[in-house]
Amino acid sequence: MLTRRMRRYRVSAGVRKIVSETKIHTSDFMYPIFVWDGNTQEIESMPEQNRWNISDKNLYNFIERLMKKGLSSILVFGVATDKDDLGTEGWNENGVVQRFVKNMKKTFPELILATDVCLCTWRKDGQCGVYRDGKIINDETLDYLAKISLSHARAGADIIAPSDMMDGRVKKIRETLDSEKFYDTLIMSYSVKYSSALYGPFRSAANSAPQIGDRTSYQMNPPQIREAILEAQIDFEEGADIIMVKPAMMYLDVIAELKSRFHLPVAAFSVSGEYSMIKLGIKNGLFDEMKIIYELIVALKRAGADIIISYFVPDVFLKYENFFI
Ligand code: PBG
Ligand code: ZN
Repeated sequence: MLTRRMRRYRVSAGVRKIVSETKIHTSDFMYPIFVWDGNTQEIESMPEQNRWNISDKNLYNFIERLMKKGLSSILVFGVATDKDDLGTEGWNENGVVQRFVKNMKKTFPELILATDVCLCTWRKDGQCGVYRDGKIINDETLDYLAKISLSHARAGADIIAPSDMMDGRVKKIRETLDSEKFYDTLIMSYSVKYSSALYGPFRSAANSAPQIGDRTSYQMNPPQIREAILEAQIDFEEGADIIMVKPAMMYLDVIAELKSRFHLPVAAFSVSGEYSMIKLGIKNGLFDEMKIIYELIVALKRAGADIIISYFVPDVFLKYENFFI
């Protein structure tokens, strides 16, 4: 006679639900959105995602619908209509991100706003740092990142999220924020950001692809994991409040590793390539939509993500509320 029957855990939907080891909650999610001064348009490389005009009423209605379903935070990406050699639009107090953040704070004071900080969208050469004679000048870049961060904090951002991968930027940004008394503004560092093919759809969405060279001299090399721990350790020491792993789906081991080693919230950024790959697969009838989105989200959570940054938020919140327990 068998006494231990594992199949008892799977006997019905009700039993499966109560023994589920990984529960998904609305507060797990942060929704990345693109804003700009052009007209609202769907992003060709990312089905069902828009570049939103910051005055578009539909954007505010859309966010409100998501908030009513429990969304508590967004991550803002600015898309430039005006680029220059230095990327000065990035720290313009009247720039598109700064104006959007001000509007949003007025309209939805309770929504947590994180803003992406980098130079690549604002610079003509599309590099994340100051680029001269074929080289990224790390320390010079820090001043500009600090300026962008401060302008976002002044506009009302709750969380500053530097995505550039320069050394020393968390320290520099923390010092700059503190010197202006923004003690309560959090830093969510893209601590472990790999040089990934999965950013392809984003780069056409944000029009931020490097015009010369690539990002391999600053973003991490995919084989590295001990190096990822060092990156996170340094960000911890420099004062990061939240550490992030990006991409997510192909780096679950890295998420798990950081989760077990650091007592800081860990964010997992499920990037544009993960989204578009899955969306296009769904559209082509290869995958069951609900099952594959659930599998992705639950995998990130199981790996240890405290915050899941995902373009699937509208699908999850508006179509698949049964994910939430
Ligand atoms: C820019 C930035 C990128 C992403 C977030 N911030 C692209 C890149 O580094 O090339 C990727 C986001 C995504 O693919 O969804 N520093
Ligand atoms: Zn960048």
